[in-house]
Amino acid sequence: MFQLLTFCALVLCASPATTPAQQVIQTWHRNACSLVVCAPAERGLPGRDGRDGLQGPKGERGEPGLQGPRGIPGPPGIMGPAGPAGQNGSQGETGPKGDVGEMGLHGIRGLQGPPGEIGPTGAKGDTGPQGERGAIGQTGPKGNPGTPGPKGNQGSVGEKGAKGDVGARGVAGPQGPVGNIGPPGSKGDKGSTGERGTKGDSGLSEVNLMKNQVTALEGQLKALQASFTKYQKVATFPGGRIVGNKVFITSGYEGNFDDLKQRCQQAGGQLASPRNSAENTAIKDIVVLYQKSAFLGITDIQTEGTFRYLNGETIVYSNWQAGEPNNDHNQEDCVEVYSSGKWNDKSCGEKQLIICEF
Ligand code: GLC
Ligand code: CA
Repeated sequence: MFQLLTFCALVLCASPATTPAQQVIQTWHRNACSLVVCAPAERGLPGRDGRDGLQGPKGERGEPGLQGPRGIPGPPGIMGPAGPAGQNGSQGETGPKGDVGEMGLHGIRGLQGPPGEIGPTGAKGDTGPQGERGAIGQTGPKGNPGTPGPKGNQGSVGEKGAKGDVGARGVAGPQGPVGNIGPPGSKGDKGSTGERGTKGDSGLSEVNLMKNQVTALEGQLKALQASFTKYQKVATFPGGRIVGNKVFITSGYEGNFDDLKQRCQQAGGQLASPRNSAENTAIKDIVVLYQKSAFLGITDIQTEGTFRYLNGETIVYSNWQAGEPNNDHNQEDCVEVYSSGKWNDKSCGEKQLIICEF
């Protein structure tokens, strides 16, 4: 079969097929294995309908066709060089205020500020507790001698009677009042170092130590009291008087009001300014002793008719002589104390006895 087919092909393909129809014929003959003439026929037998006709002549050229659709745009060209810079435009109007921003984070705590100024002085404290009872006073002065005994009866006429007995001795006077507790004295000088003592015991209990200290203090207090009493005597001899916590004293000097006022101040005190009858009596006693009226630390220099102490406070006690103060000759602004203790307003230029109070 295969050899036959090859043979047939050799026969059939002496001239190459040029149209589709010829190819179909060649194919068909191969399958049927039959002899077919391949050369074109000339005026031969009519061909089979639709299969064996010749190709016609080429037709005339046709009318040009309709224009095709627009093509796809090409890619953009390369960018040209930059032009010159334009002029600045005019400044625009201020825009509206923006919304409030969100609250920021909490700041870091600041450094501590400088210390404040020192505050005002505090109020005065309460009055302290009453002090201890003072030590027992000194023995009072010796009593006055007793009155003489009664006169003897008249004897019968005869011999001269014997002399009467001496009267009984007077009773001792009552003990004086307890003295005021005096102010503490100034610290004494340091004593010289004593000799080294002998070795003491192994040691006292704290209570015994305290007892010894109290005993020592009692001794010191007793010595101080004795010393203080002595200085009181010195301070009041002869022109001094003590009333309560005040000491009134004169040096015997005489001068006008300004002179006396300045001298008392320089000494650390002030002109005598009695605030009660006991103080006024002490001043009177000194006036009597020196037989000279004294100026008080009281005037009406600021306001005529209104007498004040030197600190400006209006007086709380007075002891005017009847008819005083009269501002005699319209020039009496100071106050003198008579030996009676009564007061008279007097010209400040007069010279009077100085009495200071401490
Ligand atoms: C008389 C007046 C008295 C006056 C004094 C003046 O003693 O009675 O008021 O102050 O003279 O020296
Ligand atoms: Ca007067």
